[in-house]
Amino acid sequence: MKFFLDTANPDEIRRALRWGIVDGVTTNPSLIAREGRPTDEQIAIICDLVDGPVSAPVIETETRAMTMEGRSLARIHPNVVVKLPLTQDGIAACSELSRDGIRINMTLCFTAPQALLAAKAGACYVSPFVGRLEDTGAPGIDLIRDIVAIYRNYGFETQVLAASLRGPAHVAACALAGAHVGTMPLKLMESLFLHPLTDKGLEQFLNDYQKTFAFEAISGR
Ligand code: E4P
Repeated sequence: MKFFLDTANPDEIRRALRWGIVDGVTTNPSLIAREGRPTDEQIAIICDLVDGPVSAPVIETETRAMTMEGRSLARIHPNVVVKLPLTQDGIAACSELSRDGIRINMTLCFTAPQALLAAKAGACYVSPFVGRLEDTGAPGIDLIRDIVAIYRNYGFETQVLAASLRGPAHVAACALAGAHVGTMPLKLMESLFLHPLTDKGLEQFLNDYQKTFAFEAISGR
């Protein structure tokens, strides 16, 4: 499973890139607004940092305007993936832009039929929101599993980009369900490293090693 970082913050991106496991970045209007620059400027900054797909959201909501905004975002950098909401206008814009070879991430997906629409419209990625769906009491991981199975049934090349992930268990479950990508905030990515037995084991290994070499230094061996 590929790992995307869900942020528009350059410091967070730099921090995660040093691990060598980040395959791309996703943003949304809320994340971009937090950085205080318009979308095109912030996306250009991110594209200079990341060697991989960078999802850039459209703000327009009507097909024609979305299509124009999508084309303009795609011109910023070859790594830009235009992010459109899963509405009727969004699907129409997806069909048009995909036909022209612009990669699309259809976002705010909460049902398998919506994901089927995204694939039929030629989307490169569909983003089912696991955490937000579970907030309503519906099972989020079942949605990932269903979309993966449906895409396999018909040989769709659209990749399932599991979004709105809230913890390491979500990441593992999405990987098990066959999601192609998981996008997550820095805090969640950092939490994937953690286990108390890793820290405890390392401490013990280093203590044992130091005890031996401290003894050798004293005894002159
Ligand atoms: C993905 O593209 C979205 O930006 C993101 O995963 C939404 O996550 P949230 O529900 O935690 O805001």
